[in-house]
Amino acid sequence: MNIIVTGGAGFIGSNFVFHMLKAHPDYRIICLDKLTYAGNLSTLEPVMSNPNFRFVKADICDKEAVDKLFEEEKPDIVVNFAAESHVDRSIENPQIFLETNIIGTSVLMDASRKHGVKRYHQVSTDEVYGDLPLDRPDLFFTEQTPIHTSSPYSSSKAGADLLVLAYHRTYGLPVTLSRCSNNYGPYHFPEKLIPLMIIRALHDESLPVYGDGLNVRDWLYVEDHCKAIDLIIHNGKVGEVYNVGGHNEMANIDIVKLILKELGKSEDLITYVTDRAGHDRRYAIDPTKIHNDLGWLPETKFADGIDKTIKWYLENESWWQPIISGEYQNYYEKMYGDK
Ligand code: NAD
Ligand code: TYD
Repeated sequence: MNIIVTGGAGFIGSNFVFHMLKAHPDYRIICLDKLTYAGNLSTLEPVMSNPNFRFVKADICDKEAVDKLFEEEKPDIVVNFAAESHVDRSIENPQIFLETNIIGTSVLMDASRKHGVKRYHQVSTDEVYGDLPLDRPDLFFTEQTPIHTSSPYSSSKAGADLLVLAYHRTYGLPVTLSRCSNNYGPYHFPEKLIPLMIIRALHDESLPVYGDGLNVRDWLYVEDHCKAIDLIIHNGKVGEVYNVGGHNEMANIDIVKLILKELGKSEDLITYVTDRAGHDRRYAIDPTKIHNDLGWLPETKFADGIDKTIKWYLENESWWQPIISGEYQNYYEKMYGDK
């Protein structure tokens, strides 16, 4: 089985590459990644010499490069993680989100049609459903919840989702879609909430909490997300959407306090800052469908997952320090520039 994984040098994509090479040692995994600020090739260093792995630096919006790769590799499955993924960046500059997240998805699906890919899987987000009120804990996102986005990021992801379903209906492309809640774990880019707070707390720097800190996210350990996608690409029904989440809602301020406690740092570091524009209040996934249809259940409890994550950041300063300093952006040129 040949699988093209786009965005495999990012947070979830790299965890997925590791998972797949381990869980399916007979598969060939080809990672296509543009190496934007969020892509870090050093993350993939442990698998670069694996004969079942290939890395290709390319933009998913580049039709020629994508077509050439599909021609060479004749993939059975395509899993699209590649995206601009940070809400705050989308508020600063929406355009690149539309290009990568929507146009890039259409380029990948056109190549998938042309080359007879057996499954195109789109990795999406619960943010396409908008948000839920804090005073209605009985409400959850199901696959039937209407798309109702808040940020340029979530709108671009929703646009891509609609296009994926349209390619299935119009052209019969065999697609599946997953919409997952917030992930956390190793290799999470240090400008997202959990790694940002761990690293700033370690440096005794102030911890910027947006608004009142009461916004709720539904956190899932990244490995559980990877296992869900593995199940969907093998056993999921073509044309279907699967919500992925583990019923683990936490207010931002509680996560920040937990991190401070684990690191033995003072809550005086917490600084409330101006709220994010259009800030979604609460996300909460109902994962009944993926549980009933595919038998998926999250395996990592939050208490264990956050411990493992904090420990990982403590032990892997050599991964995040070059990111903080910006040095990692020269890594590809230095290591692979003449290859
Ligand atoms: P990330 O920002 O860490 O990684 C994105 C990767 O995509 C990077 O390696 C980057 O170099 C690559 N990329 C960006 N633009 C590209 C382009 N034009 N061509 C090729 N590669 C490109 O993101 P992540 O957090 O790992 O998220 C991966 C996917 O999962 C995204 O589609 C995101 O919407 C979705 N998702 C993320 C979360 C989360 O909590 N992080 C939750 C649900 C869904
Ligand atoms: P983030 O990690 O950006 O993920 P998303 O916006 O996709 O959910 O943010 C998670 C939550 O943390 C979100 O409610 C915004 C909040 N937040 C802060 O309070 N301070 C910060 O510095 C960051 C980056 C996020």
